[in-house]
Amino acid sequence: MDHKKQSSSNGHNGHLKGHEAPHGGSTSHIGHKDIFTKCYEFNHHTKAQSLGLYPYFRRIDDTVGNKVICRGEAKIMIGSNNYLGLAQNERVVEAAIEATRKYGAGCTGSRFLNGNIQLHEELEEALAKFLKRESVLLFSTGFFANQGALTSLLEDTDAILCDRENHASIIDGCKASPAKTIPFAHNSAEALRRRLKRLPETAGKFLVVDGVFSMSGDIVDLPAMQKVAKEYGCRVYVDEAHALGVLGPKGEGTVHHFGLNSEVDLIMGTFSKSLGSMGGFLAGSKPVIEYLRHKARCFMFTASLAPAVTGGVLKALQVMQEEPERIEQLWKNSRKMHEGFKSLGFNIGTTQTPVVPILVGSEIKALHFAQKLFEAGIFATPAVFPAVRYGEAIIRTSYMATHTEDELDYVLETFAKIGKELGVFEDSAYREGTKRRANNGYDFDVQDEKVSETLRADSGTHTQA
Ligand SMILES: Cc1ncc(COP(=O)(O)O)c(C=O)c1O
Repeated sequence: MDHKKQSSSNGHNGHLKGHEAPHGGSTSHIGHKDIFTKCYEFNHHTKAQSLGLYPYFRRIDDTVGNKVICRGEAKIMIGSNNYLGLAQNERVVEAAIEATRKYGAGCTGSRFLNGNIQLHEELEEALAKFLKRESVLLFSTGFFANQGALTSLLEDTDAILCDRENHASIIDGCKASPAKTIPFAHNSAEALRRRLKRLPETAGKFLVVDGVFSMSGDIVDLPAMQKVAKEYGCRVYVDEAHALGVLGPKGEGTVHHFGLNSEVDLIMGTFSKSLGSMGGFLAGSKPVIEYLRHKARCFMFTASLAPAVTGGVLKALQVMQEEPERIEQLWKNSRKMHEGFKSLGFNIGTTQTPVVPILVGSEIKALHFAQKLFEAGIFATPAVFPAVRYGEAIIRTSYMATHTEDELDYVLETFAKIGKELGVFEDSAYREGTKRRANNGYDFDVQDEKVSETLRADSGTHTQA
């Protein structure tokens, strides 16, 4: 859609000169650039909304087991990261309530200035013991844990070797870091070697990878990568967000899965996935963690984890270790879905984990697919460029230990039906491979105007404001 046309239909033309802004507030003086102009012109989301295909920010009124209730209708949740089903676990919820009763609703400040509660220290000790690491530092989110490490450990003469499919929080941490970021081809130890070879010995080097990649579900080739890193004196950092509670003998993550705990310098993790809550951490040697405790600004100058979160995560960590059958069941369910989707003819890429991307290709078709799933009682979210490569839109699905056979069978049946209806197997991503484009920050736009027009014509029944 033409941006200028759209903005003039909204009552302005993107070059406001001292007039009242259409959305409230006053604009800059004549001749001065108004930083809000781009906001008034932004319409990427409204295109999908006008088609009745906007799949984000769906309101959940209630959660009952593996289902969420949206406008009175139950939907099977296959779009969460609640891998072990612990977000709704009774013992976890009770622990969160108990912590709130004891310490209050929040800590109202940072631990650095306003004090630790005992639960923060207990959780750090429990995680250090679980991961067999000297020391752990909690962060208010996993995003901050990545930001904290990447901004405070590196200097402007250093280099971050960054897998191209690393999570957005790593990409943003790299942007905020004084170090130079050197991306390398996804999961390729050889590409890593080529990059490292070119760097001078005097540059500090830091390899940063996801343990399990959040969109593809790939497991990092850590044995090969850390070997190369070691040859070049490069420190190794693994983001275990999607591996904690999934991989490793007791759910410790990728590093333990490969038996490489002594070869990896820092482990990062989040509580927002298997541990059912929110927050993040870094685990490593005592001197490094102590340094971060006194240098990481996004730890020092932000409020610490709330008592409910800390108490709940502490209990979730305990339940995970006491009930290893959850991880077993998660893998059983994941394997069923890998095989099920493949036998139906879907392309699920190279996933090896409970994160199962279903390739659709066209972005508009992916939106349509997600909407049809929702109407059929399944909650799943599409991922479009640049969260994934251009022309490779997916429905990102992820499975839980608590999903039942019946629920999973229904998901497979429904995907098969919608896949046929939308003709996803005829999409260019299936026929011609992919078109690659640089990943330059998250945005949302519909990729193919021609396809969009076709769908616009036949999506009348779904259209909503
Ligand atoms: C790989 C990865 N790292 C970090 C994060 C950020 O974690 P948090 O949700 O705790 O901020 C995520 C969240 O989606 C993730 O997928």
